[in-house]
Amino acid sequence: MTRLHKNATEQRDYAAALAPGSIGNIGPGLDVLGMAVSGPGDRVVAERLAIPGVVIADPGHAELPREADRNTAGIAATHVLARAGAQDIGISLTITKGLPLFGGQGGSAASAVAGAVAVNRLLGSPLDAMALLACALEAEATISGRHADNLAPSLLGGVTLVRSVTPLDVVSLPVPAALRIVLAYPDQRMSTAEARGVLPRFIDRESVITQMANVAAMTAAFANGDLALLGRACDDQIAEPARAVLLPGFSAAKVAALAAGALGGSISGAGPTSFYFVSDDITARRVSAAVVESYAVLGIACSTRVVRPAIRGALSLGEDATGA
Ligand code: HSE
Repeated sequence: MTRLHKNATEQRDYAAALAPGSIGNIGPGLDVLGMAVSGPGDRVVAERLAIPGVVIADPGHAELPREADRNTAGIAATHVLARAGAQDIGISLTITKGLPLFGGQGGSAASAVAGAVAVNRLLGSPLDAMALLACALEAEATISGRHADNLAPSLLGGVTLVRSVTPLDVVSLPVPAALRIVLAYPDQRMSTAEARGVLPRFIDRESVITQMANVAAMTAAFANGDLALLGRACDDQIAEPARAVLLPGFSAAKVAALAAGALGGSISGAGPTSFYFVSDDITARRVSAAVVESYAVLGIACSTRVVRPAIRGALSLGEDATGA
């Protein structure tokens, strides 16, 4: 029935995977830095079908496509089958969306990663982490652009630096134990395509130099557990100024968060979610209240969550894990 041989005894009829949400860019690291976060994720269940190919039994949301070649989990699954030499296998995918659509919480990446991991498990795990990342990257490239800053942490957990996508070269960074993050989710939507459309094509030398210094400083801050440096380095000269104009209330909310004690913050991925670093739970509550109030003044509803970096990504989360 299958041309797969590795771990053939582990092949099965059903497998599932849960992938956490993530913060893309983490401020200055446009398309290169990302962090998996605790809380809801996207779950994909893969089941064998008699007819070859991938079908979407449930896309998880009325607005998500049922066509496998337009659905991130479906595209990733198709690439896993191809890479594993298992195109003669039929697979049905059921997606449960824990992450919002158009939210800037890494939802499309989480679905792609969970799809890739679930199908790989179904096949007996013939592909390694980088091969799975490559499959999920094809999905992300089709839907929202060729970047792996959400995919890598969702797959591997923790904080990741994508040094290169061609070839894939990903570095996992240490996660400071004391770090908390306030995620603020205003009642807005932002498509990644639109948010990428406003990115500047050319960037002046001073901004590039500042950005390079801040990305390097963030890497050092994660490596050394230096939260003060993490806050100082969270200064994005490229995407945040361009995107803030698309996100009513963001700039004022960030000012309010910093005044309430946040160490630093920015737009999470393409937005509209924003994130704020804090080092303790009391400050987290203060920052949450300040951000909600700031949006409320403008008549914009906003919910917040206090999260931690999620150490485990989809690869290490068990099939029944909740992802919390
Ligand atoms: N790095 C991406 C961006 C994340 O900022 O456009 C959103 O998918």
